[in-house]
Amino acid sequence: MKNKYKTNSDLETQEIGKIFSKEIVVGDVILLFGDLGAGKTTFVKGLLKGLKFDGVVTSPTFSLVNEYNALMNVIHIDCYREKNKQRWINIGLEDYFNNSNLVIIEWPEIIMDIIPKNTIKVNLKHIDKSTREVFFS
Ligand SMILES: Nc1ncnc2c1ncn2[C@@H]1O[C@H](COP(=O)(O)OP(=O)(O)O)[C@@H](O)[C@H]1O
Ligand SMILES: [Mg+2]
Repeated sequence: MKNKYKTNSDLETQEIGKIFSKEIVVGDVILLFGDLGAGKTTFVKGLLKGLKFDGVVTSPTFSLVNEYNALMNVIHIDCYREKNKQRWINIGLEDYFNNSNLVIIEWPEIIMDIIPKNTIKVNLKHIDKSTREVFFS
C-alpha cells in the first residue's frame, strides 16, 4: 500500500481504511490525526468493513469508547470531548493496550504519554469540501 492517498469522497476514504485493514494485526495501536470533519471516523468505518464488521459504526465522540467484535476485537476511542488525562486513566484506558485488542484513537494528542510508543499514525487532511489527503507515518 502507498504512503499517501488523495480521496474525493467519503466512500473513497473508507476504501483506504479497508485496504489499510489488511496490514493490521491484533495488538496494534492506531492513532488518527486531523481536524474535525477531516474523515477520521469515516476512515475507521472502512477499516471495520475490511475487518468484516457489518453493523453500524458510530463516532465515539459522546460514548468516548466503542467496542466492535470484528475479525479481531476493536476498541475505538475519541478524546475530543474528554481532554482530562486523569479521567482516561480512571476509565482504564491502559487496560485496552494488550494483545487481544486493536485500539484506534481519534484526537490522541492529550494522552500521548499513556499510549504505547509503538503506534501506526494515520493523518487526514481536509483539502476542500470533498477532497482529503490520507497519509501514514
Ligand atoms: N473525501 C472524503 N473523505 C472523508 N470524508 C469526507 C470526504 N468528503 C466529504 N467527507 C465528509 O466529511 C465528513 C467527515 O466526518 P468524520 O469522518 O466524522 O470526521 P472526523 O472523525 O475526522 O471528525 C463526513 O460528513 C463525510 O461525509
Ligand atoms: Mg471522528
